[in-house]
Order: sequence, then structure tokens, then C-alpha cells
Amino acid sequence: MADEPFQTIIEPFRIHSVEPMRLTTQAERVAALTAAGYNLFELRAEDVLIDLLTDSGTGAMSAEQWAGVQRGNEAYAGSPSFERFRDAVTGLFPFRHVLPTHQGRAAEKILFTVTGGPGRVIPNNTHFDTTRANIEFTGAQAVDLPIPEGLQPALRYPFKGNMDVAGLDRLLAERAGHVPLVMLTVTNNSGGGQPVSLANIRAVREVCDRYGKPLFLDACRFAENAWFIKTGEPGYADVPVAGIVRQMAALADGMTMSAKKDPLANIGGWLALNDDSMAGQCRNLEILTEGFPTYGGLAGRDLEAIAQGLSECIDDDYLRYRVRSIAYLGEALESAGVPVVVPFGGHAVFIDARALLAHLDPLQYPGQALACALYAEGGVRACEIGTVMFGLRPDGTEVPAAMDLVRLAIPRRTYTQSHLDYVIEAVTRVASRAARLPGLRIVSQPRQLRHFTARFAPLH
Ligand code: F0G
Repeated sequence: MADEPFQTIIEPFRIHSVEPMRLTTQAERVAALTAAGYNLFELRAEDVLIDLLTDSGTGAMSAEQWAGVQRGNEAYAGSPSFERFRDAVTGLFPFRHVLPTHQGRAAEKILFTVTGGPGRVIPNNTHFDTTRANIEFTGAQAVDLPIPEGLQPALRYPFKGNMDVAGLDRLLAERAGHVPLVMLTVTNNSGGGQPVSLANIRAVREVCDRYGKPLFLDACRFAENAWFIKTGEPGYADVPVAGIVRQMAALADGMTMSAKKDPLANIGGWLALNDDSMAGQCRNLEILTEGFPTYGGLAGRDLEAIAQGLSECIDDDYLRYRVRSIAYLGEALESAGVPVVVPFGGHAVFIDARALLAHLDPLQYPGQALACALYAEGGVRACEIGTVMFGLRPDGTEVPAAMDLVRLAIPRRTYTQSHLDYVIEAVTRVASRAARLPGLRIVSQPRQLRHFTARFAPLH
């Protein structure tokens, strides 16, 4: 008897322990927002009802991961927890050297301290904020090379996270001597959470080979990316997710990783690479800032949670539910007339704030204005990914970012469908009066990564 597939794709887990949420009044939220200087990073998490600020470190761990926490061995050197971690990593990403770090940006810091510096250029499909900041901190230049389709939020196009291969070729033809390595972010977070196809990774690899450049993956959301390859790229429907991940890894020379995303852990990351001499330099830096290379800024229990999470995040039922729940939110917003980035990505729905708040100039920060309104309306915390995050250049000048998006990032295994129904209602209510939302001006800001600490005031 054939298995009849169900239409309803359920959360493939039972809830094992719960964390109460605090309901707030609109007056309380407006007061909290004002006190926070209209910067949602400054809010107390207890004043947030549904926290979609990030999918990073905010997922729910499984019973087996908590069991791993108990198993954690806290030896300073040579811990068996490190061995389990390393084996889980290399089972998917068979690089010769695996250096644990406390999170992704620590891996970036080490990698770019070794490879960056004034005059250097590091291309990527789209750099995430910390990647860009770590590159620029060394004096190097971070160059984004998304495909043009990736910059059109309303355009339905497969694998919109791909890199512009011809653009990479041009950059290397002109400046190969300045490029220490090429990066590829899977999925392309700042570009709308869009996946990168294996064909694109292969084409990028081919260009790298022609110029003798190593290719590094920023692989935070590798499992979601692999699921899109399995379900959307011809020829991969029957390949297990783990096999697709290994094919992605085989095309690269190394990776940076945040275990706070797809590996389902609350903290952690790693740098992995094949080159022995570069690995030696990286390991020395790791000891300087992260710790001994068998724990690298993590406790043994964290390494266990990551090792177990890596086996859970490549499960078909989990990934089907994960990607479907994002699309459920996106489809509802789209049918309510909210401009969203399509097709829907793996970890978030991105609202096109520049289109929704078309009455505002990008330098009036439409994304930040929308994110603030969502919080005031329903206690939903989202994240601006636009001119606030990317508009300040290292020389202090300000330019509009390529897009002004608001990201509703969905923590893994944390919220249910009714939570998403509430979010849909909150966004729809705000969208109905979007044309009247005031813009913002910046009252104070730091020189780097300003979105975390800048303070704003409404333009009335
Ligand atoms: N690369 C990408 C593509 C990311 O999305 C992030 C983090 C990092 C690197 C850095 O990793 O946070 O462990 O240091 N992104 C989070 C986000 C913060 O909200 O998208 P980390």
C-alpha cells in the first residue's frame, strides 16, 4: 500500500519543555522602544513577544543534544567531546583541519587576520555584516558579487543567492594579485536568505582554479541550502542531503561556520581548511584569542551539542518542515499584499521595506522604521537588513544599501504555526498603514557595525 502524503506539514517534534512568554501592552512597547532609542537590539528580550531578530543561537535543542551536554568532557586538551565534534564536522565537511571557535565571527577574525590586510580584496556573493566588518578591520576590501537577479526582491528566480561568475572572473582578471581567497555564503543571508546552486559553486570553483585561488564557504546555513538543491536543482532529488553537503564541501578549500545556525546549537562555530601552513598560522591565532585548539572558546558540552545538532539538521523531515514553515509565513504575507523577497529562503522571510514604505528615502531608514512599527504593534522583533546595517562606508560617508529589507528570521524548532499566524496578523496590520509611518534619523552611531548600537529618533 502506497503511503498517501499529507497536505499538512507538521512540526516533526513534540515540545519537551516550555519557556513562558510575557504579553505586553502597546503603551509598554512604545515606552520600551523610546527608551531603546528605536534600536531593537537595545530592547530587553522579556519585552519581546515573538523574537524574530535572528535565527542565530535561538533554536531549541533536542533531548539528545541536552544529553550530549551532560556527556561533555571538560578536559583542557584532548577532550573526547572535541573528537566527537571534529568527526561530526568532517563527516560532512572533510577538511583536514577543524578549529573550533566560540562563534562564526571568531573564525572570520582568524581567517582574515591571516589572509586580509591593506590592499587585499575579498569577493563573496554577499558578505554578511560581521564578515565584511572583519575584512574591513584588517584594511582589506570586501566586494559583493551577487547575480543581478539577486538584487530584485520581487523577481522569482531560482538560486538567487548565486555569485556573478563573470563578475568574479573580471575582478580576478584585473586584481588577482590582491585576492587571497574567494568566499561563497550559503545560503546568501544578506541577499535575502537565497540558496546557491551546486552548478554555481562548481562554476566559481572553476574560476578560482584558473587563477589559483582558494575557495572558502561561509556555510552557516549549509543544510537549508542543500535542501533547496535537493528540491530545486535538476539531478539531486535522489541524493541524500548529507551527500549534497559533501559535494558542496568537496568544491571548497575551507569554510567558516557559525554553529548557531543550521547546527542547532546555542553557541559555537569553526574554521576548517585543507592548507597545512595556513592552518598552522590560524591555530596559533586561535590559541591567542579563543583557546587551545581542542576547545577553541567552547565548553566540551557545547562541542557535544554541536556534534549532535549536525546529525539532526540534515534530516529530511526536519528540513521539509523548516523550509515549509518559512514559505507558510511568506505566502500569507504575499497574499496580503506585503512586498516580500521571493522565492522564500531557508531561514527567514524578508519584507521589502523600500517598496512598502516608498514615501521614505533610503537615508530615512525605511527598514528600521518598519521594524520599529512591527514591535510597537505586536511585540514582534525583526531585523533591518539595509541602509542602517550596510550604508556606512569605512571612510564615514553614507550611501543607500542595495536593498532595504526587514528580516523576519525564524528560530529553529522554537515557534509553532499559531505563533506565525500571530506574526502574519501583526505584519498585515502594520502594512495597512505603512504609507503613514515616519522615517528615522540617526542621533548617535559608532564607526563600525552601527546597527547594533546606533540610536535613532523619528522624523515627524
Ligand atoms: N556569516 C553569516 C552568513 C551569518 O549569517 C552570520 C551571523 C555570521 C557569518 C557570523 O556568525 O553570529 O556566529 O558570529 N548571522 C546572524 C544573523 C548573527 O542574525 O544572521 P556568528
